[in-house]
Amino acid sequence: MRIGVLTGGGDCPGLNAVIRAVARRSWARGHDVVGVREGWRGMVEQLFQPLGPEQISGILPRGGTIIGTTRTNPYKVDGGVDGVLASFRELDALVAIGGEDTLGVAARLHREHEVAVVGVPKTIDNDLAGTDYTFGFDTAVAICTEAIDRLHTTAESHNRVMVVEVMGRHTGWIAVMSGIAGGADVILIPERPVDIEEVGSEIRRRHARGKNFSIVVVSEGCDLPGAEDKGEVDQFGHRLLAKRGVGERLGEEIERATGFETRVTVLGHIQRGGSPTARDRVLATRFGLKAADLVAEGKFGRMAALKGDDVVDVSLEEATAELKTVPDDWYEVGRAFFG
Ligand code: F6P
Repeated sequence: MRIGVLTGGGDCPGLNAVIRAVARRSWARGHDVVGVREGWRGMVEQLFQPLGPEQISGILPRGGTIIGTTRTNPYKVDGGVDGVLASFRELDALVAIGGEDTLGVAARLHREHEVAVVGVPKTIDNDLAGTDYTFGFDTAVAICTEAIDRLHTTAESHNRVMVVEVMGRHTGWIAVMSGIAGGADVILIPERPVDIEEVGSEIRRRHARGKNFSIVVVSEGCDLPGAEDKGEVDQFGHRLLAKRGVGERLGEEIERATGFETRVTVLGHIQRGGSPTARDRVLATRFGLKAADLVAEGKFGRMAALKGDDVVDVSLEEATAELKTVPDDWYEVGRAFFG
């Protein structure tokens, strides 16, 4: 068998660990593995690269992806789907590693053309349905938590409010988890409308009980009047964020509402860079082995997924039908420590 592997969408720590696991298990069965360059673009344009022992060696702890990634949507490119189908004729199967967009394309191609594709769930945002966790999320949360810890000491020294803007375009998983782990005093997520007066009163309540600083964690995807995106969308129709992001606007509003000096830190792509945590390496490795097994068993249109402690498979359709938002009970864990 000739198995292609692609990584699509925003990169995240653990992609290389998946590629390694797919390759090692597939080689053991006598299959060949090739890298498809830069996500769906590589399928549209037949951009293949060898993935042999030399390329795979030493990549387990390495961040990013050795085969590159883009946000190309073949359904939005002239001749895109024909190009992808031509690539499938050169492969016996494809392992697509991605989030809702990349895997949404995989699901649609499988539905419409019965292509031999399996999925692996990736995103630091952890917003993919069908799996309890995606790999990359744990690393992002660890990075944000360390940042929040560091901001505590400088906030305290200067009697300041610190706003920390974290990623999470549609959902607040990173904000909630890092906010809980870092002891945030307020956490704001896209799932809930932002009420500036309420944020101000939480901060004032905290200062009234003798605290001289506060930490506010906000998801970049929160809606706040006055925050501006770039006015553009990508090929999947997502707004390009962060011209003057929500963190900056929130900082101004908090200063206005409370009178407390406020500073803003936007963590940005630091959350996606560098080496994966041990947990993400293990999860990515298990997902990669599962994907190789799904290919060997001919279980196409399926995605590796984590349920409890088990790696299982679910349908790509089910996994990409809707986003997994933060449930109220998770938010309430963070909220117990507000103010
Ligand atoms: O989808 C993952 C993600 O990191 C989002 O949290 C973020 O909004 C987006 O990607 C940023 O995309 P880009 O790297 O294209 O700026």
